[in-house]
Amino acid sequence: SSNAMWGGRFAAGPDAIMEAINASISFDKRLAAQDIAGSRAHAAMLAATGIVEANEAEAMREGLLTVLSEIEAGDFAFSTALEDIHMNVEARLKEIIGPSAGRLHTARSRNDQVATDFRLWVRDQIDAAVEGLDALSRSLLAQAEAGADWVMPGFTHLQTAQPVTWGHHMMAYVEMFQRDASRFRDARARMNECPLGAAALAGTSFPIDREMTAQALGFDRPCANSLDAVSDRDFALEFLSAASICAMHLSRFAEELVIWSSAQFRFVALSDRFSTGSSIMPQKKNPDAAELIRAKIGRIFGANVALMTVMKGLPLAYSKDMQEDKEQVFDAADNLMLALAAMTGMVGDMTANRDALRAAAASGFSTATDLADWLVRELNLPFRDAHHVTGTLVAMAESKGCDLPDLSLADMRSVHEGITEAVFDVLGVENSVASRMSYGGTAPEQVRAQVARWTEKLG
Ligand code: ARG
Repeated sequence: SSNAMWGGRFAAGPDAIMEAINASISFDKRLAAQDIAGSRAHAAMLAATGIVEANEAEAMREGLLTVLSEIEAGDFAFSTALEDIHMNVEARLKEIIGPSAGRLHTARSRNDQVATDFRLWVRDQIDAAVEGLDALSRSLLAQAEAGADWVMPGFTHLQTAQPVTWGHHMMAYVEMFQRDASRFRDARARMNECPLGAAALAGTSFPIDREMTAQALGFDRPCANSLDAVSDRDFALEFLSAASICAMHLSRFAEELVIWSSAQFRFVALSDRFSTGSSIMPQKKNPDAAELIRAKIGRIFGANVALMTVMKGLPLAYSKDMQEDKEQVFDAADNLMLALAAMTGMVGDMTANRDALRAAAASGFSTATDLADWLVRELNLPFRDAHHVTGTLVAMAESKGCDLPDLSLADMRSVHEGITEAVFDVLGVENSVASRMSYGGTAPEQVRAQVARWTEKLG
């Protein structure tokens, strides 16, 4: 039989394969609540503008609530023949309130309807992402506060560079995750315009009130151009781009946790709650959550590339290609939220191994820069010469199999006779970090200032 929603000109129904490739209900049923909210706003507007009778609009609005409660209760029979969430909801509404359900689609198209639903859905995900990032930032703040003066090695090229503090390292991620949150907020401000009323592409001849529906759905204003309103998926792409950058940060941190929890590093112990064992090696405690965070990032990047690729060749306005937007965004959002929650749990539970951090910080000639700076400050050497003297001392220590503070004063003076006993003060890692008092530096005092700043902002 032909389709009840658009089958007027059709004599035959679709092939089963046509139905299978066309239907989106298996995934877009996730838009049910947004679809019903959009329809309820539309119905109210149709009554307020006199386009439909007030009592009919009220019946629609009531009936839509019934549909919503059926869906939420899990006793709604979704039909593939009805293609998508929009037609499934409308068909059920007709069963409940009768033929006047057919007036709901006045001055509207599925093109503006889906664009509206999807914006509402993405907007909620943006809010959830910001919330997740704030929660993660708070658990990082707690780590930073506890370990504001715990010394650890700072790396460049994953080679020992200079001592930093645990708190400083944690706060670096707070900066990143809060930039991610601000990217999501920026995207939200830009996307918060309502497509409803753009109809199929050209607007409508009915005297609709687009301000009214926009406001009812929490949008700042209606989209200004009806062609753009139904064609635009920038909002989904911005979400995926912000999600990708955030995911990249999560992945870097996950990578560090994998390294840090190894027996070779022992910088952190992950909790039992966020680790797994091996079925053959009894000693194993694996950082699977961190690994899976690192891996899920691939899906999020993939979704971004996939939707960019779907969109890049589409002439205006709506094309069915755009139905492919949803699964990508759903999957990326689900995995981003899961990754954020897992990271928050792991960070909240993990224990930094203060002794191992300190021991690692004190090895690998981590205070060589402090020595060079001392030569500049105390002996007035040009930095390049100080660098050379220090390099010679590092080579000497390396050949003796010791670290810089283990060299004798005589050893030191054999390279530069101006060196005095006082040099040993700057070779200690605590002094090294304490001296890095420049704004944003790793000195515990500076780290505590960072913690205080973010604690106040995050409430
Ligand atoms: N299921 C469709 C989608 O997700 C809804 C819009 C369909 N519009 C149309 N003219 N066929 O994009």
